[in-house]
Amino acid sequence: MTLGHGGVPCPPKRLGGTHDPEHGLQRIGGGGVSADTAAIGRATDAMRAHGVLLLGAQGMLGRAWRELLASHDVPCLAPLPGEVDLADPDLAEKLPGAGWGTLINCAAWTDVDGAEAHEVEATVVNGAAPGHLARACRERSATLVHYSTDYVFAGDGSEAYRVDEARRPLNAYGRSKAAGEAAIEAAFAGAGDGEGGWLTVRTSWLYAPWGHNFVRTIAKLCASRPEISVVDDQRGRPTSAEGLARTTVALLGAGVRGFAHGTDGGACTWFEFATAIERLTRGEGGSARAACVVKPCGSEAFPRPAKRPAYSVLDLSETERAIGPMQSWRDALAGVVARMG
Ligand SMILES: NC(=O)c1ccc[n+]([C@@H]2O[C@H](COP(=O)([O-])OP(=O)(O)OC[C@H]3O[C@@H](n4cnc5c(N)ncnc54)[C@H](OP(=O)(O)O)[C@@H]3O)[C@@H](O)[C@H]2O)c1
Repeated sequence: MTLGHGGVPCPPKRLGGTHDPEHGLQRIGGGGVSADTAAIGRATDAMRAHGVLLLGAQGMLGRAWRELLASHDVPCLAPLPGEVDLADPDLAEKLPGAGWGTLINCAAWTDVDGAEAHEVEATVVNGAAPGHLARACRERSATLVHYSTDYVFAGDGSEAYRVDEARRPLNAYGRSKAAGEAAIEAAFAGAGDGEGGWLTVRTSWLYAPWGHNFVRTIAKLCASRPEISVVDDQRGRPTSAEGLARTTVALLGAGVRGFAHGTDGGACTWFEFATAIERLTRGEGGSARAACVVKPCGSEAFPRPAKRPAYSVLDLSETERAIGPMQSWRDALAGVVARMG
């Protein structure tokens, strides 16, 4: 049995779940309970008590969440593809009526270039749907966890973007995600105790040992080409999806609500990131394959429909005050590459 499509199987030990006949949903869970920190323990205790509804479970971050929840024995409803469509205006009515007290939304329109030609469709999924989810959470006193992006900022600054900085997106995807942020804020406006809560975590440059991402793309290119060119005029913060899921749990356990930033520590350009990926995927001592020369180039070498921010470093000071220092992107990358095999 698998949780869904897309070649992203559940880890074998998670497959002992039961099927919820009422909602046609796969319930995942099992394994021992472990608490990495007090905050993570508090958050997973609460999730275990009321259950989690996970949207976008087949995506890159969704899979990281599936694995984290299963490792903490948190019961999780993960709709199969097509069961909960964020483009459906009646989305809230399609959510399961019971079995969850936290909704983790990892689903989104993530085709940044495609959003330029399909901004209306992207905005329905990224802008309107989070509002529907937020209202559903408020009605049932649940907590909504949502993800947003560095692309809500213009990227023309030179200092890390603070959590409370004004949104100023420079492309259609950024505008659609900014609309989603605003929709959640509006849906919870004036909410009192007992009316649920929300946490929107902005992240950037996400990657994992699975899914479509820069790390896997560069690793494949380096395995087959003697030389690649990578843009050196965009600076940001790479983020391990698994690390982001843990960071989010810790933020929840620390009582952080509203907006937060969740990325790995440090910053680099795509060229610097690719150089590190090339070295690590060549193996210890550089013997696993021939070196691939990574050359820096400007963004003009790869014209794309959507403008990219030149500087999209998200400020982590509030997050680090709440839950401690973020792992450096180099350490996180080394861990992920080691597990990519
Ligand atoms: N990837 C990044 O670098 C990055 C950077 C900043 C922020 N983020 C944010 O982080 C979150 C997770 O991103 P990700 O990279 O894990 O995304 P992803 O791998 O592209 O996964 C997105 C998931 O959303 C689902 N989805 C898309 N449209 C849907 C719809 N109309 N109804 C229901 N489900 C739908 C997809 O299902 P199908 O595959 O079946 O379509 C997929 O499972 C998103 O909010 C994204 O905006 C990502």
